Amino acid sequence: MEKAKLEEFNHWWTTSKVDEELALPFKRSIYSEIEGHINKRFILALVGLRRVGKTTIIYQIIKQLLEKNVDKTNILFFSFDEVSAELSEVLETFKEVHNKDFRKEKIYVFLDEIQKCNNWENELKKYYDLYPKLKFIISGSESLFIRKKTKETLAGRIFEFALNPFAFREYLRFNEISEDEFKYETKIKPLFIKFAEKGGFPETFSFETDKEFKEYIRSLVVDKIIYKDIPRIFKLEDPDFLRVLLELIATNPGMYIDYQSLSKQFEKDRRVIKSYITYLKESFLITLLGNYRKGSIITLRKKKRAYPADNALIYLYKPTIDEDFFGKMVEVLVVNKLKASSFWKNSGEIDIVHEDIPIEIKYQEKINSEDFKPIKEFMKKFNKKEGIMITKNEEREIKFEKGIIKLIPVWKWLLEEK
Ligand SMILES: Nc1ncnc2c1ncn2[C@@H]1O[C@H](COP(=O)(O)OP(=O)(O)OP(=O)(O)O)[C@@H](O)[C@H]1O
Ligand SMILES: [Mg+2]
Repeated sequence: MEKAKLEEFNHWWTTSKVDEELALPFKRSIYSEIEGHINKRFILALVGLRRVGKTTIIYQIIKQLLEKNVDKTNILFFSFDEVSAELSEVLETFKEVHNKDFRKEKIYVFLDEIQKCNNWENELKKYYDLYPKLKFIISGSESLFIRKKTKETLAGRIFEFALNPFAFREYLRFNEISEDEFKYETKIKPLFIKFAEKGGFPETFSFETDKEFKEYIRSLVVDKIIYKDIPRIFKLEDPDFLRVLLELIATNPGMYIDYQSLSKQFEKDRRVIKSYITYLKESFLITLLGNYRKGSIITLRKKKRAYPADNALIYLYKPTIDEDFFGKMVEVLVVNKLKASSFWKNSGEIDIVHEDIPIEIKYQEKINSEDFKPIKEFMKKFNKKEGIMITKNEEREIKFEKGIIKLIPVWKWLLEEK
């Protein structure tokens, strides 16, 4: 590798600081948690959907290290996103440039989009085991454990942080709304509506036209993942079909994934559909929920439900959003905020079961007594004392012989810390 290439990636070697445009001032909520792990031995991995802010966090950490007087030549950044290279090439060139001894000096090594580097897991393991003073911080826009072998190779050596699109709290903070203002419904509601419609990709917050918004999400998120990222790892016969599946899920959030009927509908082998759904999930474009079973989230054979990972993906494909459909989008917000993994379907149906608590989303003007039926059924069946109903406006508690159902408006619920 040419030395100049590395120098290009590491401008602080000459300027002593990180470019302001790269280390943006706004810190994500997860930032301090990540920073708290920076001096631990294991490899830190930041993974998440494209365009959510992984690289920005890396630059923010680098900036902080420099401010703490870490020697600028002990910080190495490399991105495999646009340049193909071997990990050893990168590290050995760095060693030469600064005349470093990996055994003696603590060096922070940031490797962006590492999943694009061939055989990265074995190379990384080699360096990690050989040089305990090297601190690796890596990022990936697909699950890094997409291949079983990665998991085995790096078992016990890696600590993963999932980076999601902005949460509502972060969105408000980004819009300079202070926590004291969170209680003012008239102030928060309009921002909630905008957030629910357009989702949490930070760069889109300043966009003024739909055209700009859609072009951005289409080209930098969807097309990049479907036509570039996924085919790089898996042999994809029909990327267009992957996009069709994504559009189907985005426009029918919460749909049941029935491999058989999808197979018929699209004239594709069931196994193809199944692996395509997995690709969408592993690249963080969709979230899958399984049917709840007591004491376990493992579900056998029952159909899963699929949700898009962010409402921006819905807005991209949905030409008109009416009140009913907006209720669906609210459901997606809730699923993604909780990182929910199960729903429950019996005679009734519960949108989400999270930490054994049934949660229903009812975004409608008025809640009627039959709306409580499924939650009550669940609470009786599993002997639970608490249920939650996320509403449009209503806030109250319903007591019945089994326990309490708490009603809370969605904009308020989204602002709860957890
Ligand atoms: N903390 C932040 N404050 C303000 N804007 C941000 C922040 N983080 C990200 N952004 C905006 O989002 C854009 C994408 O961020 P970034 O490049 O860090 O994401 P990424 O996850 O690395 O994306 P990709 O997977 O495509 O490499 C940035 O160019 C910036 O405009
Ligand atoms: Mg990036």
